[in-house]
Amino acid sequence: MEIKQELVDAINDQLNFELYSAFIYLSMGSWFESQNLKGMAHWMEIQYQEEFNHAMRFYRHLTERGARVVLKQIEAPKTEWKSPHEIFADAYHHETIVTERIYKIGDIADRLGDRSAQSMLNWFYNEQTEEEANTMELRDKLKLIGDSVPALLQIDAEANARPPAPPIPISSTAP
Ligand code: FEO
Repeated sequence: MEIKQELVDAINDQLNFELYSAFIYLSMGSWFESQNLKGMAHWMEIQYQEEFNHAMRFYRHLTERGARVVLKQIEAPKTEWKSPHEIFADAYHHETIVTERIYKIGDIADRLGDRSAQSMLNWFYNEQTEEEANTMELRDKLKLIGDSVPALLQIDAEANARPPAPPIPISSTAP
């Protein structure tokens, strides 16, 4: 089935939004670096790589369907935060926006009867559940600890154990 232009446009927009997400997380990582919180800086660097992979999954889908990828200007991300808690509150909020955007693409794919796009989007529905859960957990833990430096360093050490990002997906339906 030939992919309709409405869906191509929506996927291109999201591809660019995923690159914006990558910028946001790299900016957050650089803030953690500036605070010498190396574990959370590491966590954000992995997240940056995962967001790039999300963009590439949309890139693969458009390419596989014979559609054109159109890269656009990426908005500059926020650079300053008051606390690690504020960063993860922002990250969680950002992920809820991403989820809503992906659901809207799903609505378009449903309306157009595009099952190929739906199949690709299924991966994102699961991924967004995980991304919201991860950022929510860290946001809530950072709120719980208040001003405790030992607890903050414990969370930083746990964040440092985040495993590397998976490789760049070789297709839009790669696991
Ligand atoms: Fe690509 Fe964090 O959603």
